[in-house]
Amino acid sequence: MAQADDARDEGRRRFLVKVGAAGLAGSGVVATLGTVAFSDLRAYNERSPVFKLGRPEDFASGTRVYLDGPRLFVGRDTRGLYAVSAVCSHLGCIVRDGGEGFACPCHGSRFDARGAVIGGPAPRPLSYVALTVEPNGLVYANVASRVDPDDRLEV
Ligand code: FES
Repeated sequence: MAQADDARDEGRRRFLVKVGAAGLAGSGVVATLGTVAFSDLRAYNERSPVFKLGRPEDFASGTRVYLDGPRLFVGRDTRGLYAVSAVCSHLGCIVRDGGEGFACPCHGSRFDARGAVIGGPAPRPLSYVALTVEPNGLVYANVASRVDPDDRLEV
């Protein structure tokens, strides 16, 4: 009788060890998948702030064009190229070119040609961003690098 109880206890012990091992292996798989998924999310959120805009001659003197990818207005005047963010400093809507300046369609903020707030709820001016010409001859904008509104890329 005692031998039968011992055999039953041993069987129970082996079963519980197997269940515990399976649980540990399962939690390891879940943790690994979670890490991979989180890494992918981080990679998505850490997109480069540098955008290729094109050749300098793509931007005619006296013009200003909106580029959807970097969400920038890129223009050229007598001093060179410049780029100003189209992202409204109020709640992030895309401003429209309003001739001399810019106007936000969402809550009515208005900005002058230098991006300074001249009306509406926007708390800060529009940002001018750094431009460079790389050895391949193309113009790039770094939307994370702000510059003075008077800065120009001479091309
Ligand atoms: S988002 Fe531009 S005024 Fe509100």
